[in-house]
Amino acid sequence: MLNTQGRPTQPHAAHSNSGVTRRRETFTGNRGLQQEEALIFEIGRADVSGVDIDAPQAFTPRLGDLARKAPIDLPGLSEPEAVRHYVRLSQKNYAIDAGLYPLGSCTMKHNPRLNEKMARLPGIGDIHPLQPQSTVQGALELMETLSHWLMELTGMQAVALSPKAGAHGEACGMMAIKAAIEARGEGATRTVVLVPDSAHGTNPATAALIGYSVRAIPAREDGTVSAQAVRDALGADVAAIMLTNPNTCGLFETEIVEIAKPVHDAGAYFYCDGANFNAIMGKARPGDLGIDAMHINLHKTFSTPHGGGGPGAGPVVLSQALAPFAPVPFISKYKSGLKLTEHAEGSKAFGRMTAFHGQMGMYVRALSYMLSHGADGLRQASEDAVLAANYIRVCLQDVMSAPFGDQPCMHEALFDDKWLKDTGITTLDFAKAMIDEGYHPMTMYFPLVVHGAMLIEPTESESLASLDLFIMTLRDLAFAAKRGDVERFTQAPRLAPRRRLDETRAARQPVLRWRKPQPVQEAAE
Ligand SMILES: Cc1ncc(COP(=O)(O)O)c(C=O)c1O
Repeated sequence: MLNTQGRPTQPHAAHSNSGVTRRRETFTGNRGLQQEEALIFEIGRADVSGVDIDAPQAFTPRLGDLARKAPIDLPGLSEPEAVRHYVRLSQKNYAIDAGLYPLGSCTMKHNPRLNEKMARLPGIGDIHPLQPQSTVQGALELMETLSHWLMELTGMQAVALSPKAGAHGEACGMMAIKAAIEARGEGATRTVVLVPDSAHGTNPATAALIGYSVRAIPAREDGTVSAQAVRDALGADVAAIMLTNPNTCGLFETEIVEIAKPVHDAGAYFYCDGANFNAIMGKARPGDLGIDAMHINLHKTFSTPHGGGGPGAGPVVLSQALAPFAPVPFISKYKSGLKLTEHAEGSKAFGRMTAFHGQMGMYVRALSYMLSHGADGLRQASEDAVLAANYIRVCLQDVMSAPFGDQPCMHEALFDDKWLKDTGITTLDFAKAMIDEGYHPMTMYFPLVVHGAMLIEPTESESLASLDLFIMTLRDLAFAAKRGDVERFTQAPRLAPRRRLDETRAARQPVLRWRKPQPVQEAAE
């Protein structure tokens, strides 16, 4: 309810621009200490500011017709109001610092505070990409050391640090492959990229973006890709295969070496999606398996924070064959020190992926994780991640169903929805009920090759006590589903700040833009 100035006449929790009417259990809309918070546009006022600014001196406007004709109406808040607004919003955010975050394929692991401390050191946090290179030799050395560790861990010969996410790394690796194919004069004939149907959506999207058409390879009954299926799909028109290992079903591709051979024999390149490298780091080196290019999501394997779309880093490691095509910039060693080569005229570099050299803050955090763990610690992180996933798998497989039977998994445990058959409960309902128990849901309905998939990745960060509580919670939910306590699922989440969305309306009539409510006459309470 708004008065004529567009200000709420009741506590703002009563209003919503979303058009959704919410049942209010309390006068304020707050639930205990869980504070309601309206949009900043709903609570902000154009005449309020957190700072006092002197009125401008008299001046003659020179904008003519371009001068703004109506007030801009930016929402203003006092300082305490602004602080409360953002603190309340942050309290609605589920984060790895708040609890176990079991999203499969996303690897939500603890971000060590040591990494943050390192990234904030003045000599690192305060430098600028346009500084003379002689003044940032330490930063260049840090990038050089990180590159060295990445190459050592993967058994590859070159690295492009600059891509800013996994998907961006895929683009980088595939552009290096395309450049290599064009350099062989086969750009016009090799137009196809092979992608298994269990792949992450970014793989076919990347291939298509780079201008290739995608040929799908079906997964086998056991969730992996067979060398025979790859051989069947290969031909003189194939530029590359993009294969994820460990794959999106949480399984190691056992025939990877047998797949690499015919791919190379056919004159194609082997791109490995290395998003799941955290399961094999220190155990197996992609370079030894025949990989030509692979991205590494630093936020998954090397504990840098997941940004909401950035800043991230997805370095790409390259084989000897692709190294000459790596993008600029790269670091070279001279007697006088290190140099970041920004323009490599006359080289085969395919171009560049980003302005400057990429996300320095992420490089610092990743290297801090590597150096604080050491080679043995990194290996143990992988082992612990795999152990934790298998612990969950084994402790839940008698109440939930695993699509590929009782076989060990890598870093994530995959279940399907067969066990929910005839309960009237779906994977989505189960996930919503997890929210009421204080857990972020696992990844749902991915990979697409598994019906009603539930993909759980605990990572190495969780203690045994934390894993046990999670397992007991899921078992309790599973028993409730089986004994027919349907409401606990279909009505969930009951305890979250918001109930369930009307999915159909959200899809058919999405409200994507806030619109200022029209002032209405003062109405009775
Ligand atoms: C298997 C796989 N490939 C690629 C990506 C894309 O990585 P990013 O989100 O860093 O772009 C992801 C991300 O979840 C992934 O799980």
